[in-house]
Amino acid sequence: MKLGMEGKTAVITGGSKGIGLETARLLAEEGAAVLICARRQSALEEARADIAKTTGARVETFSLDVTDLSQIAQLPRVAKERLGRIDMLVNNAGTGTYKPFLEVTDEELQYGMAINFFAQFRICQRIIPLMVEQNGGSIVNVAGETGIMVTMPPFLSSCTGPAKSAEIRFSKILANEFGPHNIRVNCVVPGFVNTPERFSKWERELAKRHLSAEEADTERRLWSANNSMRNTRWGTPEELANLIVFALSDRASFVNGAVLVADNAMDKS
Ligand SMILES: NC(=O)c1ccc[n+]([C@@H]2O[C@H](COP(=O)([O-])OP(=O)(O)OC[C@H]3O[C@@H](n4cnc5c(N)ncnc54)[C@H](OP(=O)(O)O)[C@@H]3O)[C@@H](O)[C@H]2O)c1
Repeated sequence: MKLGMEGKTAVITGGSKGIGLETARLLAEEGAAVLICARRQSALEEARADIAKTTGARVETFSLDVTDLSQIAQLPRVAKERLGRIDMLVNNAGTGTYKPFLEVTDEELQYGMAINFFAQFRICQRIIPLMVEQNGGSIVNVAGETGIMVTMPPFLSSCTGPAKSAEIRFSKILANEFGPHNIRVNCVVPGFVNTPERFSKWERELAKRHLSAEEADTERRLWSANNSMRNTRWGTPEELANLIVFALSDRASFVNGAVLVADNAMDKS
């Protein structure tokens, strides 16, 4: 199937690693010029070299912290300068905090909402006017399994789940509001995906909880064999990228306001 992306442009947040990097790579393979955004310029440069080497596509970078409103305000100008127009947007930057509800700090609560839901809201508010002007565009917001299901310990998600649920609802609302402008908005919901950053972050959080060695080992065992994962497996970033890129493409012209879950039947509800 040809996705018809030659000459199109895409902005991908969190585009230097994991799902975002594989999405940018696949878009580039399909002929799109991409602008990848993340905080660390070094990782962006690595990703740019890697994608450009394998695809020969145009890859631009922008060092952006999606929790910083003043940096988000620069994004439309930077994207227009470097890409000319914005046909596709992938709001992918995000993260999860997994810990018991009573241990969640106010700082973690605020960061969880800021990096997940607020960032998607604020970026859409600044990019959609350009799409309206162009009379078209396609957006994928990346949420997460904690937004649709209660995951088992140690994936306790009182902090992250509500932010991911908000992203799902928000995407549907935007799809309805901007459908008349030929702008599609879909939400992709990954199950557990094997990205190195996710493991190292969780290990750092575990260390901060000052558990005994035995308790920490128990948590690690639960992590690798917990009930949420029964009868399934970790997904790969490429598997998620396939779905995101399809949803962005004109081949998905009748897919709008959809919640596209890729979790290999992890959700048993
Ligand atoms: N992996 C999973 O199992 C899983 C499951 C469900 C949902 N998801 C969701 O899928 C999305 C991608 O996850 P992933 O696992 O692929 O991520 P990842 O491997 O941890 O990569 C995160 C990317 O986002 C960037 N990033 C992090 N914080 C940022 C910030 N404040 N501003 C801008 N960029 C930032 C990172 O670069 P810098 O650090 O340099 O900024 C990196 O490029 C996230 O929304 C995540 O919640 C993932």
